[in-house]
Amino acid sequence: MPRPRTTAVVGLAVLALTACSSTAPDDVAADGEVQLIEDGALTVCTNPPYEPFEYEEDGEVVGLDIAIAQEIAADLGVELSTIVVPFEGIQSGEDLQAGNCDVVASGITITDEREEKMDFSDPYFDADQGLLVPAGSDLASAEDLAGLEVGVQGATTGESWAAEQGLETVQFEDLGLQVEALRSGQIDAAINDIAVLGPFVGDDLEIGTTFPTGEQYGLGVRTGNTALLDAVNGTLERIREDGTYDEIYTQYLGTAPIED
Ligand code: ARG
Repeated sequence: MPRPRTTAVVGLAVLALTACSSTAPDDVAADGEVQLIEDGALTVCTNPPYEPFEYEEDGEVVGLDIAIAQEIAADLGVELSTIVVPFEGIQSGEDLQAGNCDVVASGITITDEREEKMDFSDPYFDADQGLLVPAGSDLASAEDLAGLEVGVQGATTGESWAAEQGLETVQFEDLGLQVEALRSGQIDAAINDIAVLGPFVGDDLEIGTTFPTGEQYGLGVRTGNTALLDAVNGTLERIREDGTYDEIYTQYLGTAPIED
């Protein structure tokens, strides 16, 4: 298994103060030190366009996932470096295994299958699937889609959900291509996480329905990278407590999170 090329050891002052009694396994950074693939940077793999989680603005990738990653980097005392890659390698754990990034942050739903390929942080966002359709199409349920061409993003939970419903799907590499195909009439409807469909609603497209799948997003690290996982969870806890999470959630989602 390839190991990260360069190794930076970052003293985790913040974590040491907050994580009172973590017992790290002795194979990985038992002393609680976070090792990063690039010196002085937290390298994060992500797959835009996926507004409001990751999307490009003025040549920069921004969004809720990126803002959270920024907080993690700040707590580690390093810069954030964002790498844009296909979702397939993110969700399969390949990018983490290959040492392409320290963390995957890409609206990734925590699933049992993916838990085998990477370690997930505590959940940070609740998600369901949604249906994007041409305005006025009256498509509002899975049954309505029988015999139609339904666009999905490859390797996503939307793709597996559509397959479970027995729908005929057309795969797209990213959300942008998926929506373009809907606009051009190549597909009849598109399924993806409901939160990312909103930005496309307008004169030509509307939300047909929400499919309540009860998903939760997590940030991923390489299996066994307990030191980094503890740091990630430490930051998630801090931003929940100090109001930063509410602030960035409101900034990118447009409404405050519902308390649970
Ligand atoms: N939540 C879905 C999944 O985990 C879709 C995520 C796609 N994310 C992205 N940035 N393109 O499969």
